[in-house]
Amino acid sequence: MAREPKNYEHLIGKIKGLSENQLRNHFTLYQGYVKKLNEIEQKLGTVDKSAPNYSYNEYSELKRREPVAYNGTFLHEAYFDNLGGEGTQPTDAFKNGVVQQFGSWDNYIADIKAACGSAHGWVLTCYGYADNKLRNVLVQSEHHVGLMADTHIFVAIDCWEHAYFMDYGTKKPDYIAAVLASLNWTVIGDRAKQSPLGHQKP
Ligand SMILES: [Fe+2]
Repeated sequence: MAREPKNYEHLIGKIKGLSENQLRNHFTLYQGYVKKLNEIEQKLGTVDKSAPNYSYNEYSELKRREPVAYNGTFLHEAYFDNLGGEGTQPTDAFKNGVVQQFGSWDNYIADIKAACGSAHGWVLTCYGYADNKLRNVLVQSEHHVGLMADTHIFVAIDCWEHAYFMDYGTKKPDYIAAVLASLNWTVIGDRAKQSPLGHQKP
C-alpha cells in the first residue's frame, strides 16, 4: 500500500524564524521523497531480477536509489517531528547521557553548531549501539551517505540549503539558532526512552 506523506501544517507559524513560504516549500520537497519511495517500492515488486549489474540494470539501480528515497522520507519526518517545541526542556535521562558523553550540555550544543556548520546535509544526534556512544553524525552528499550502522536517531537537523535559503540566504548560523530554539525536547526525550539512555538513573 502506498505511503501517505505526514501532514505538518501545524508547524506553520509555530517556528520562530521559519516563514510559511520556507516551510511550505520544504513540505513539498519532502512529499516528493515519499512519492519516489512509493514508486521505487512498487517497481521493485515487478522488475526483472534476472540480470543484475554493477554498471547498469533497472533492478540494480532501483536498489541503489532506494536508501535515498527512504532516508529522504524518514529523515525529513524525524526533522519535522522534532520541531515546534519552543520552551520544552530536555529530559534528565537525555541530559545525563549528553553530559556523560560531551562533558557538558554546552559542549554538546557547541558540537551540534560545529557539525551544522560543516554539513550540507543532515546533522543527527545518534546513539551507537555498537560502541554505546552518543555522537553528532553528518549525513551529506546523499541522504544515506554518512549514516552510521546500528544507530538510534534522537535529534535530526536539516542543514541542506533548501531548508533555510529562502529565509536566511547565506546566514546559516541564524537558521541553526532558530532550529535549536525550536527543538522539541519532549519528542527527543521520548525517542531516547527507547534506548539505553532512557534507562539511566537521573
Ligand atoms: Fe530537507
